[in-house]
Amino acid sequence: MTQYVKPHAVRCNTSCKKGLRGGGDIGLVSASQLHYIPIVKHTGALISFEGIDGSGKSTQAQLLKAYFAERKCTVVFVREPGGTKAAEAIRDVLLHDKHLAMSDFTELMLFLAARADLVDKVIEPALRHGRVVIADRFADSTFAYQAYGRGINLKLVKQLNETATRGIKPDLTFLVDLPEREAHRRLKRQKDRMELLGSTFHQSVRLGFRKLAAAEPRRIKVLDGRRREEEIWNEILRITLQFLRRSKIELPEQFWR
Ligand code: ADP
Ligand code: TYD
Repeated sequence: MTQYVKPHAVRCNTSCKKGLRGGGDIGLVSASQLHYIPIVKHTGALISFEGIDGSGKSTQAQLLKAYFAERKCTVVFVREPGGTKAAEAIRDVLLHDKHLAMSDFTELMLFLAARADLVDKVIEPALRHGRVVIADRFADSTFAYQAYGRGINLKLVKQLNETATRGIKPDLTFLVDLPEREAHRRLKRQKDRMELLGSTFHQSVRLGFRKLAAAEPRRIKVLDGRRREEEIWNEILRITLQFLRRSKIELPEQFWR
C-alpha cells in the first residue's frame, strides 16, 4: 500500500485570494478557491447508491430509475465509472485485468478523471436544470475503495475529489451494506480488475463505507442488504419520497400519484 505523507500543494499567490497565478506561499487550495472551478449552486438533487461489489446497489438504483420512468418523470441516471465517451474509455482501462499492475495513485486519478468528465458533461448541467440525478456510485466509492481500501490519505482523496466534482456532493446516499462473503457469492459473472482484489480488500472497503455513513448519518442511509430485494426497495422508496417532499425540487403532479 502506498503511503502519502503530505498532500499535494498548489503554488498560490497570497495577494490574489481566488487566483492560482504567480508565486507566493505554498498552501492547500480548496475547490472554492479555484476561480475557474467554482462550487456549483443548483436546484436539482443528486441521489447516489453505494456498496461493495455484489451488494445489490445497482438492482436498487434501477428500481428507483424505473419508479420515475413509470410516472413519466424525467430522471438522469448515471453509473460510475463511465457515462461519457471519455469516462467509458477510462472505465475500460480501470476495470480490465490486463492493468493489474497499475499504481494506486494512478487508479485514484483515473477514477477522478472519469468523474470530472461526467460531472462536467452530465451531472452539473442536469442539477443546474433542477433535475433529479440517480448515480450508481459516486464520490463515496472513491473514499471507500481508494482511501480505506488502498490506503491513500483520506483527506487528500477528499480534496482531489472536491476539485474533480466542483464541490458537488450527493444530497442523499443509500449504502447497501452486505458482508463481503455474501456479496462475493452473489457475483456469478467474470470478475473485473477491482473485483479480483480479494476478500481482505473488500472487507476494508465495506468497513470504510460504514465509517463514512457513521460520520454523515443524515445523508448516508445504511440499508441491510441481507434482506429481500422488495424489503430494501420499500425502505428506499419511503426515504426518497420523504426527502423529495422536503426538498425544493419541482416534480410533476403525476409523480405523487
Ligand atoms: P452491485 O451493483 O452492488 O454489484 P447487483 O445489484 O448487480 O449488485 O446484484 C448482484 C447480484 O445479486 C445480482 O445477481 C442480483 O440479482 C442479486 N441481488 C440483488 N439484490 C439482492 C437481494 N436483496 N437478495 C439476493 N440477491 C440479490
Ligand atoms: P462496476 O462493474 O461498475 O461495479 P459495480 O456493479 O459493483 O458498481 O465496477 C466498478 C468498480 O470500480 C467497482 O469494483 C468499484 C470500483 N470503484 C472504485 O474503486 N472507485 C471509484 O471511485 C468508483 C466509482 C468505483
